[in-house]
Amino acid sequence: MELNRRTVIAGAAAAGLATTALGTGTARASTGHGGRKPVREPFGRLADGTRVHRWSLENGGTRLKVLSYGGIVQTLEIPDRHGRPANVVAGFDNLDDYVAKSPYFGALIGRYGNRIGKGRFTLDGKEYQLSVNDGVNSLHGGAKGFDKHVWDVEPFTDGPDAGLHLHYTSIDGEMGYPGTLRVRVTYTLNGRGEWRIDYEATTDKPTIVNLTSHVYWNLAGEGSGSIEDHELRIAASRYTPTDAGLIPTGELAAVAGTPFDFRHAKPVGRDLRAGHVQQVQAKGFDHNWVLDKGVTERPERVVRLREPRSGRVLEIATDQPGLQFYSGNFLDGTLVGTGGRAYRQGDALALETQHFPDSPNHGGFPSTVLRPGAVYRSTTVHSFGA
Ligand code: GLA
Repeated sequence: MELNRRTVIAGAAAAGLATTALGTGTARASTGHGGRKPVREPFGRLADGTRVHRWSLENGGTRLKVLSYGGIVQTLEIPDRHGRPANVVAGFDNLDDYVAKSPYFGALIGRYGNRIGKGRFTLDGKEYQLSVNDGVNSLHGGAKGFDKHVWDVEPFTDGPDAGLHLHYTSIDGEMGYPGTLRVRVTYTLNGRGEWRIDYEATTDKPTIVNLTSHVYWNLAGEGSGSIEDHELRIAASRYTPTDAGLIPTGELAAVAGTPFDFRHAKPVGRDLRAGHVQQVQAKGFDHNWVLDKGVTERPERVVRLREPRSGRVLEIATDQPGLQFYSGNFLDGTLVGTGGRAYRQGDALALETQHFPDSPNHGGFPSTVLRPGAVYRSTTVHSFGA
């Protein structure tokens, strides 16, 4: 379905989105139906007996299955240009694999998305040591991040919308972070099939927060092979180069003239083997792009991903300043996904809207500090088309 620009702007306005950055969108027309109530079913038990549930949501042609464990998006189905649905996210068909070996497939990430160098930071003159789980660094919240906890899930319908509120309370000192953090994440599917994530958190002591979602996309369908022919556009003129441990050096480097230039759509594979030192140490793309729009009041469209054979398009709007684009470099053929096929290197990619990695150790990066009395808020909207 190809929509004209007027329809797109109307859709974006209705979704409360600013239509800057990438201009034309691909949002679907509303179905006109009210949101259907999410349905719950058992999905297994953890070793300690805790029950895990799976919630199914459907709206505007998009189908989502969400686990109470990690708030994981297990499957997300959208139609291709002929109306044929496919699951376009990587995941497992059982709880045990998620617990034992998931590289954050589909999960909510917290308290801090991506890495903090040596797991250390100083806040108000006090040094904190976090759980270290990636060499000497702390990755995605430490050894037991928000992705490895069972969240309280509350379904809702609201006019044309259907969704889930997910709640998790991270106690003072968990994984080394100061302050008890109360987190609410809302997943909403609207009548146009857009998937919106609203993050909210409050704390009782000064702390740092950087929440994101770690969905791995393959718009040709999960398990169908490489994402190298996906065309990607990122509205960013700079990125944050890293050291060998993938910790930002602090520099904001221009993408112009480098493989990191995605300002115009290009296939992910085109410059993937360019041999740039930044790619060699990361085994591909695993970097934070500095979004040109910066931190914004409202979500703005910053990413467009298109798979040419199916015609499927994903657009992402966010109010966050950064985007981690990870080209699935650590997938090595040892994980078998929901459809029964193994994931090899580059069979899926992640696009994580967030604050920059290691921000607490870089005065020049936008702040990730949250203080008592303030509310952390962040929104990301995924629109689909074909
Ligand atoms: C993020 C990181 C990567 C990797 C993946 C999960 O994208 O930046 O380095 O850890 O998560 O494997």
